[in-house]
Amino acid sequence: MSDGHEADAKTAGEVPRGADVDSVVVLDFGSQYSRLIARRVRELNVYSELLPFDTPWREIAARKPKAVILSGGPASVYEDGSPHPDPAIWTGGVPILGICYGLHLMAEGLGGEVVSFERKEFGPAIVSVTSGDGLFAGLEPEQPVWMSHGDSIRRLPDGFGSTARTDSTPYAAVADPGRRMYGIQFHPEVVHTKSGRDILRNFVVEIAGARQNWTAVNFIASTVDEIRNRVDAHSLATGTDGKVLCALSGGVDSAVAATLVHRAVGDRLICVHVDHGMMRKNETELLQTAFEQLGVRVIVVNARERFLRKLEGVTDPEQKRHIIGNEFIRVFEEEAVKLGQIAFLTQGTLYPDVIESATSSNEKAAAKIKTHHNVGGLPDDIAFQLIEPLRYLFKDEVRAVGTELGLPDSMVQRQPFPGPGLAIRIIGEVTADRLDTLREADWIVIDEIKAAGLYRSVWQSFAILTPVRSVGVMGDGRTYANLVAIRAVTSEDAMTADWAKLPYDVLGRISSRIVNEVPGVNRVVYDISSKPPATIEWE
Ligand code: XMP
Repeated sequence: MSDGHEADAKTAGEVPRGADVDSVVVLDFGSQYSRLIARRVRELNVYSELLPFDTPWREIAARKPKAVILSGGPASVYEDGSPHPDPAIWTGGVPILGICYGLHLMAEGLGGEVVSFERKEFGPAIVSVTSGDGLFAGLEPEQPVWMSHGDSIRRLPDGFGSTARTDSTPYAAVADPGRRMYGIQFHPEVVHTKSGRDILRNFVVEIAGARQNWTAVNFIASTVDEIRNRVDAHSLATGTDGKVLCALSGGVDSAVAATLVHRAVGDRLICVHVDHGMMRKNETELLQTAFEQLGVRVIVVNARERFLRKLEGVTDPEQKRHIIGNEFIRVFEEEAVKLGQIAFLTQGTLYPDVIESATSSNEKAAAKIKTHHNVGGLPDDIAFQLIEPLRYLFKDEVRAVGTELGLPDSMVQRQPFPGPGLAIRIIGEVTADRLDTLREADWIVIDEIKAAGLYRSVWQSFAILTPVRSVGVMGDGRTYANLVAIRAVTSEDAMTADWAKLPYDVLGRISSRIVNEVPGVNRVVYDISSKPPATIEWE
């Protein structure tokens, strides 16, 4: 997000305004699973937000949460400097569930004792439920769970009793039902805890009484109202027509954001799609048709020549990324200027980006691997107000909203595609011919992956055009032609990825179709590297 914008007044994760939804606050004590807890609660159709562990109680209380969940974390509660919540949380009257480190915080904060545990537990375990109500209502007495802890409770606070045990601890789960305080030593958010979803449901819905009304339909209704009110208020105050601009990339985020805004402000929304020539086959045309059918005004700027000229002779990956990113902004600005006075800019910022900027302080310290160009990363010096209708949503929720809005599956379920497009999948110089070659090969990959029913189970699947040429034989003749690589990965979030174990016959069909149908290619290889140490894209 660029600093020059008049940023949206909302803070990270605040409950969507105008929406009559119940919410659950998850405090993040640094567990790798914190975000997953928030997602799991959302999967129960209850809005949840992840906040930094030291959020003052008055800020939490101002959100009127139905419950608070304390995440796990790598620290020990008795260590100096370990993260602790605002102590006012213990007397706030809101039901609390402590998970792992969160349980230890609760035990310590309410007068119990936590010690280093001589029998550390990591991995799968079976807990025996000793009290079949509360968190375990309706569940079997023996529960497979996922443990990961080195500390344990030695003495419970007054009012608490044990509700489940394992061979190594009598306090696998504890409860003080009177105060609606619950703690579990295991992780209900990971799939290895078989009844994790039911346990969270028992807490959030049955114990805390949260209504399950966080649905795509409700989200759309409240978001559309909110955007309309905001734009109308601005128009009234300024005597302008309140135009809204949106850059459409072809990806699901910008498509869903634009459609929501269109529902709210109709023709006042103008979408611009910069066709930099690095899109996949037919992608620009599909986008244009889909939005025309929805009645959305889309200006397609054909800037193919312009981008190609800038990329002439360039082979360095970072230089390519910079050129495309900068040129994109220039073209977009030129279009914006032509459209006259525009008050708002729509961006497809998602909740994970919001969490990232609110809770992560080590981002700056992380080594830069690649410069990302996102279509959202727009001009710094134009004073737009931002409309970010997806800032509360996880990616799967964006897809659900897109489907509800009537966007075609081809758009809603589309695999991620990088901003610089095919340019970073052509190793070496990007030329019109090489783009054509890659576009055809890529089309075949996607076609075969879809035909095999694998499109949604792999995270990304695509072709790379390498600068390598090799000798082959076709008919009776020698060839000396291009090498195309195929990359298909599985992933949860693109931070790590594994190469997809595609069936040999699918790989075989992809290979033989590419060498037969794409002129200038005589050899196909499959990339079997995971991330790390490789990245998903080659550049
Ligand atoms: P890497 O190659 O770093 O990619 O493993 C991780 C994910 O990010 C996508 N990607 C980008 N997305 N603009 C984007 O919007 C970019 O510049 C960009 N570069 C990589 C990549 O496709 C993968 O999903």
